[in-house]
Amino acid sequence: MAFGKRSAGPATAKPAAVKPAAPAAPKPPVAKPIAQAPKAAAPTEPKEKPKPAALKPPPAVQEEKVTQVTDRSEEYYATKTTIFNALIDTIDLGQLAQLDQESAREEIRDIVVEIIAIKNVVMSISEQEHLLDDICNDVLGYGPLEPLLARDDIADIMVNGADTCYIEVDGKIERTNIRFRDNAQLMNICQRIVSQVGRRVDDASPICDARLLDGSRVNVIAPPLSIDGPALTIRKFKKDKLKLQDLVNFKSISEAGAEILRIIGHSRCNVLISGGTGSGKTTLLNCLTGFIEPSERVITCEDSAELQLQQPHVVRLETRPPNIEGSGEISMRDLVKNCLRMRPERIIVGEVRGPEAFDLLQAMNTGHDGSMGTLHANSPREALSRVESMITMGGFSLPAKTIREMIVGSVDVVVQASRLRDGSRRIMCVTEVMGLEGDTIVLQDILKYEIEGEGDDGKIVGRHRGTGIGRPKFWDRAQYYNLERDLATALDELE
Ligand SMILES: Nc1ncnc2c1ncn2[C@@H]1O[C@H](COP(=O)(O)OP(=O)(O)OP(=O)(O)O)[C@@H](O)[C@H]1O
Ligand SMILES: [Mg+2]
Repeated sequence: MAFGKRSAGPATAKPAAVKPAAPAAPKPPVAKPIAQAPKAAAPTEPKEKPKPAALKPPPAVQEEKVTQVTDRSEEYYATKTTIFNALIDTIDLGQLAQLDQESAREEIRDIVVEIIAIKNVVMSISEQEHLLDDICNDVLGYGPLEPLLARDDIADIMVNGADTCYIEVDGKIERTNIRFRDNAQLMNICQRIVSQVGRRVDDASPICDARLLDGSRVNVIAPPLSIDGPALTIRKFKKDKLKLQDLVNFKSISEAGAEILRIIGHSRCNVLISGGTGSGKTTLLNCLTGFIEPSERVITCEDSAELQLQQPHVVRLETRPPNIEGSGEISMRDLVKNCLRMRPERIIVGEVRGPEAFDLLQAMNTGHDGSMGTLHANSPREALSRVESMITMGGFSLPAKTIREMIVGSVDVVVQASRLRDGSRRIMCVTEVMGLEGDTIVLQDILKYEIEGEGDDGKIVGRHRGTGIGRPKFWDRAQYYNLERDLATALDELE
């Protein structure tokens, strides 16, 4: 009987090779005659043709490439379900819960081996080992997620119901063949994850944020809100956080650009890091915190503690969502306000999303130089106008001009991060906030990333360029910290 690896694997394995050839065909023959046909020759006919020539056929719905994360086959899943059900009938889950992980695993393995023998299932030693691991993971761990969680090269795991699971590797999203027995199992695993941080996800509270024990950030949204089964999103925690030098190696920023960021960090500029989802904002913030002096008292405020500061004097704070009765919430604003009473030297806000923007600006303005935060925006200008609208929507009835004056008086630099279409992450610009001219905030780019084209491998080619600024506004600051020479050299080195 075919079992496990011997059967060729799920049907989904093949489509990778299938490339629809048809849509490309019509283009060349249509294009040529038009180019050659002189306008005067036949006034009626050629007129109709230009349109189809210019239009590329829309990409046909391609079969999705599926990354084989495990080599389990349909038969394997069927056998596993049979054995799993037999196990659940046999085992006393209450007693199992009393045991430590190791003993519980031993217990489960013993019973499963027995069931395999009784049911007369034919399988090789290695297949049996797979099955034992999988069943132990199902009962005690995070089930089919385990092989994904064990990998450090995955940035995100996205489960859209029991049968669909995507991962992000090297900036690219790919579909995997990981799947759950059914939505009930997926829900069960979601429940297990969130219960570890004392939360619940169910009909009454179908949205839940949580954290895995290793620090990975988790979001669950359950039916009926997510229509096709529970949606689970995990931002994997990278044990070895990227350093600024790594970003240079990845060409996310040039050497000289990195040096400018170092000077910005050292000379205690107030920095906002702006970017889209998953563009590398938190990573960049983490890099910038590397330049904080060990003697400084730093307070970090986050929704889910992701930052890893290396300094000894750090207080880490985390928000708390409301409990099931809807009370007990501690918002980001509560944290930032409280921070100010904790004698911070620098305040780091993981993500500025609401009225805490006001408190952060005030902190930046009142002697907590070198504070930093990230926010979602597509350009430095948009970032500042988002700050403005966060403050307005937070119910502060201040005139727009006052808010802008506040922004100009507190934010020194905005760093823009982006995830480009080839999956790479780049620092798109480092921009200074110069001042207010009338009602408009004046910005000045110090460096910019210019896209030059696309290489043969589909990777975007470009370079970081200086904008010819000889003396940025934070020059005086750099001078105060004895860094003006370094700054001058770095500015010279920008192309
Ligand atoms: N310059 C980079 N080059 C390669 N990978 C990167 C780079 N910056 C970040 N990453 C990786 O991209 C993933 C997302 O990064 P990060 O968490 O910093 O993004 P984010 O903008 O904070 O996302 P979110 O909006 O979800 O908070 C992480 O796995 C991180 O390791
Ligand atoms: Mg982030």
